[in-house]
Amino acid sequence: MNTDVRELLDGMIREHRLQAHSMKDAPAFYRNLEQNLDVRRAEGGLLTAKPRWSDTVFDFTSSDFLSLNRSNRIRDAFMEELGRQPNFRLSASGSRVQYGNYSYLNQVEQEIAEFYNSETAYIAHSGWLANVGIVAAIPLAGDAIVFDELVHASTHEGMKISAASHRIPFRHNDAESLYEVLASLKDNEAFRNGTRSILICVESIYSMDGDICPLQEMVQTVKEVFPLGNAQFVVDEAHSTGILGPRGAGLVAALGLEQDIAIRIHMSSKSLAATGGEALLFHPAASSNRVNAGVILCNRTIRSVILNHARFAVYSGAPSYPMVASIRAGYQIMMNDMTEKEQQHIQLAVKHFFRSITSNPVWEDATNRRILSIPLAEDWETRSSMTHIVAVLTPQPRHEQYLFFHLLLSNINAYATAYPTVPKGQSRIRVVFHAHNTIEQVDALVAAICDWAQEMIILEDGGNEHRIPSAARQVYALQAMTE
Ligand SMILES: Cc1ncc(COP(=O)(O)O)c(C=O)c1O
Repeated sequence: MNTDVRELLDGMIREHRLQAHSMKDAPAFYRNLEQNLDVRRAEGGLLTAKPRWSDTVFDFTSSDFLSLNRSNRIRDAFMEELGRQPNFRLSASGSRVQYGNYSYLNQVEQEIAEFYNSETAYIAHSGWLANVGIVAAIPLAGDAIVFDELVHASTHEGMKISAASHRIPFRHNDAESLYEVLASLKDNEAFRNGTRSILICVESIYSMDGDICPLQEMVQTVKEVFPLGNAQFVVDEAHSTGILGPRGAGLVAALGLEQDIAIRIHMSSKSLAATGGEALLFHPAASSNRVNAGVILCNRTIRSVILNHARFAVYSGAPSYPMVASIRAGYQIMMNDMTEKEQQHIQLAVKHFFRSITSNPVWEDATNRRILSIPLAEDWETRSSMTHIVAVLTPQPRHEQYLFFHLLLSNINAYATAYPTVPKGQSRIRVVFHAHNTIEQVDALVAAICDWAQEMIILEDGGNEHRIPSAARQVYALQAMTE
């Protein structure tokens, strides 16, 4: 077992030891919290801060999709960017509505807006905050939020504090279900006559499932049901930035829908290997005479709404100079078309994965027995564009942990994800592909998944379906030794 893996396991085992029973004399405040954490420990699902692994472990987990971080390209571009302005002041020293609105920040926002063919861009401290801020601040009392059932936790957080009067989910990636929800809202006179608005929340690529939003179809649906333009989209482009579209500009750009989407949110923390989230606000008057003057005002209003009602903008210092410089460095690389090779390699790697795993001799048996399920593998050949996220579902209890241990002992880092991050019964290994994953590494991944599935089949056939597979046994033995 290599030292990275050993360090990770030691840490996980240590953190998973139940605590509450040994805290009889501790203050009840802490005991209550530990009792609560013990519920997760008992299920083997405690989240722990992981050590940073060396690059020799195959990375199928990080958000460095384009390898800008690992290759140090972003660091070099960042240092150059800082070097161009050696007299910069580090801190914004105030919020955007006070002293903190400095010219470099405005200039970078302007460049980003031009890149995305958007009228304005607003840099938030993180993608999380951008989502929370927008979803909380835009809908007014009486308005509705309609959202894909699988949207990110940050959108849910925004909804919790929003003044909206309705929050209605629709079935994941299902334009018909969106239609039904919108049609039901149309029974309400205020939505029908356009005096109340609807914010529709979707993601370009869903972070846990890796599937792409049928945005074109949804835009059409919304136009049909609400032709007055009182229903608008916010598209979270966290996972499509750098992956889809011309120069990695995302799904909206790939589909040429810039004029139909009110708000796009791009994250810098993933492909760009920086930090922060950019809210792009489209100004419909710029290129469409279909939209009325109210929408023009509404769009000017959106930026103003952020500055007035998105609390991260009002009550928090503006992004610092180095943060903005790191975002600019990432965008410089992307804008200059220097991530094309990386984007292409990800496409190749994912296709190779699907081709290899579906032609492995164990595939059919493992999927028939519901030991493995990879929804995106079903029709992969018909899709023109792959995404970098593939959910390897392990439908049976605890199997995501068994497979995770198996991968770990095969020098592969791909984390298990279970409830509450994904719905109950949909535990999985979330595999993320990168520009730095070689084809040999993809082969090793496929071999490890299939070896594990084969072992589970043998256990099942021997009437031993409750027996623990070998990698998990090794980990549990280690756990027993350290207790
Ligand atoms: C879909 C989605 N939205 C928002 C975020 C938050 O972005 P950030 O890391 O910039 O805060 C994430 C990150 O996990 C994400 O996956």
